[in-house]
Amino acid sequence: MEKKYTAKKLTAEEKLRLLCGDGAWHTADLAGKLPKLRVSDGPVGLRTERMNEEGESETIPAVAYPSIQILANTWNLSRAKDMGEALADDCKERGVDILLAPGVNIKRDPRNGRNFEYFSEDPVLAGSMAKRYIEGVQGKGIGVCLKHFCCNNLEYDRLHQSSDVDERTMREIYYLPFEIACEAKPVSVMCSYNRVNGVYAAENKKGFDLLRNEFGFDGAVISDWGAVRDRTASAIAGLDLEMAFSQENYDKLCADHAAGALPDEVLEACADRMLHLIYRCKEMQAGEFEVSSVASRARTAKKVAAEGMVLLKNEELLPLHGVKKISLAGCFAKPESADMLRGGGSAAVEWLDKKFDLEEALTARGYQVLYESAFRYQTINSFGQSARPALENAAVSDVNIVCVGTGSPVEYESGDRSTLRLPDVQERAIIETAEENPNTVVVIFAGAAIDVSAWEEKVKAILYAGFPGMGGDEVIADILTGKICPSGKLSETFPLDIADVPAANAWRSAGVTRYQEGLDVGYRYFDTYGVPVAYPFGFGLSYAFFAYDDLKLEGKGSALKVTYEVENTSEIDGKEISQVYVRECAPLVYRPYKELKGFSKDKVKAGKRVKVSLTLDSRAFAHWSTAFDRWTVTDGVYEILVGASSEDIRLRAKIKIKNGEIEVL
Ligand code: BGC
Repeated sequence: MEKKYTAKKLTAEEKLRLLCGDGAWHTADLAGKLPKLRVSDGPVGLRTERMNEEGESETIPAVAYPSIQILANTWNLSRAKDMGEALADDCKERGVDILLAPGVNIKRDPRNGRNFEYFSEDPVLAGSMAKRYIEGVQGKGIGVCLKHFCCNNLEYDRLHQSSDVDERTMREIYYLPFEIACEAKPVSVMCSYNRVNGVYAAENKKGFDLLRNEFGFDGAVISDWGAVRDRTASAIAGLDLEMAFSQENYDKLCADHAAGALPDEVLEACADRMLHLIYRCKEMQAGEFEVSSVASRARTAKKVAAEGMVLLKNEELLPLHGVKKISLAGCFAKPESADMLRGGGSAAVEWLDKKFDLEEALTARGYQVLYESAFRYQTINSFGQSARPALENAAVSDVNIVCVGTGSPVEYESGDRSTLRLPDVQERAIIETAEENPNTVVVIFAGAAIDVSAWEEKVKAILYAGFPGMGGDEVIADILTGKICPSGKLSETFPLDIADVPAANAWRSAGVTRYQEGLDVGYRYFDTYGVPVAYPFGFGLSYAFFAYDDLKLEGKGSALKVTYEVENTSEIDGKEISQVYVRECAPLVYRPYKELKGFSKDKVKAGKRVKVSLTLDSRAFAHWSTAFDRWTVTDGVYEILVGASSEDIRLRAKIKIKNGEIEVL
């Protein structure tokens, strides 16, 4: 950190005060001596509070963006930046200095209750998207707080459990998204609640040192809300700000300092970093920034949804053609509450525009729509009623659309999902209406993978709409009717069964969770061990078709330039996400079969070709060597695989690396 601000002139008392927040959402201002920073959640919409007339706190409605999972499914760095910029404008309007987002925790297991807030099971995709999101927010003068550092991959017992992770897995999987995101220079990082290899994340000196000494992080480390056990130990480890304010911890910190247990230089360093944070945020805001309108931010939410929804199955049913009468079933089509379309906890957003009505959106597009809620959504266990009333509609319609999903009682902070299956009544609604009408489309509203095995074969099309955000009803209608050509691809594997996932037997346990699957997270596992999945990582259908050819590799010292062409062989304009994986052919240390190292999303007009070009640097070929304690590229042959998904490799070619130099074979 450039030492621009020094706490030398502050009294010890002031420095101590600076290390603990002011209430739940502000930094201390030392009785007006310093500017006060206001922080606020969160990743998919701003969550600020106000007092209502009864003196109770209530959440102020805000633009609700699609879940981070949907943003990741766009694989579009520009969309990540757009969403960051829009969120920055939300912050400006509400006087928020730091947005408590994004979260880059890896989706180690699809059951993690907060997966809807996270990007991916892959560190390169998660880190790259988060980096651009941060550039979007900070480019408009608002700070971010990158979270949750580190290895917070489940919610169960999150305040105590220890994530036991070996060094190499930590570097290659769990630290990597933070490392990549730190390239965007976040003003702060939030530690997680859990322990990391036995040590509370708030006291993870090794991790904080790594952030600062290796990842180029020059901001302040903030605790998750209530994550600090011992304020002195956490300050010594390098945690600068405890949030929210805790009188008990503050008193103990002062007592420890008086007793000499908190060295002056530690106090000074933390206070310096706090001053740096406060003034850096204020300086960032000093530029001239145009604040976009709420309408434009709502359009951004729709743009993200339009590119992030994933068409999982389509047996020539979509886009709808020759259809007049539609049976629309499932209360997710016309939700009783926004809770059905979002995850719960600190990332829950009070929707500014609460209208979400797929019936109306389809009717407005000229269809005759017969809507039946079919099942009721109240709490996690009482979806109630049967699907009967929808059967008649399905039988007399040209097409049957069934809307199913989860929502905040199922996906939320501080709890995990027990199953990937939809509730019985929803599965029955799909199966029984599909028996009446084979032209059935299922639209899934959820923030993480769903087990589709009970009904997948009985329907012709499946659209994964995720938690779609405001305006998502219009986007779904436009995708179903062909105005939007779907272009999202999965940022996480949809397994056939939860029993198949790599951490199935060890995903959580009382006290200590051993990450025994090591590097084999998500597709790295399914791929390496040939375990079949429902929908692989990187998969998503389009109404257009794409062919890949002309792969060319060019070694430039230790870097590799990869170029290839993508041709749209259909008559529909579309966007294609191409993925570049690297495989070491005969490794000397264990390596998953292949790993994502680059990707590109390109607009390709009907019948046209685009040339895609990306450069892989030496890290794309490296593993974290525990023998040398550094990133190491071993001499050998590597294969470059270019695919439309992790299972659909279209082009491949080999290179040889000797002493770091690349030779194309
Ligand atoms: C969550 C954080 C959030 C904070 C403030 C915590 O419970 O883990 O992600 O930013 O609360 O709301």
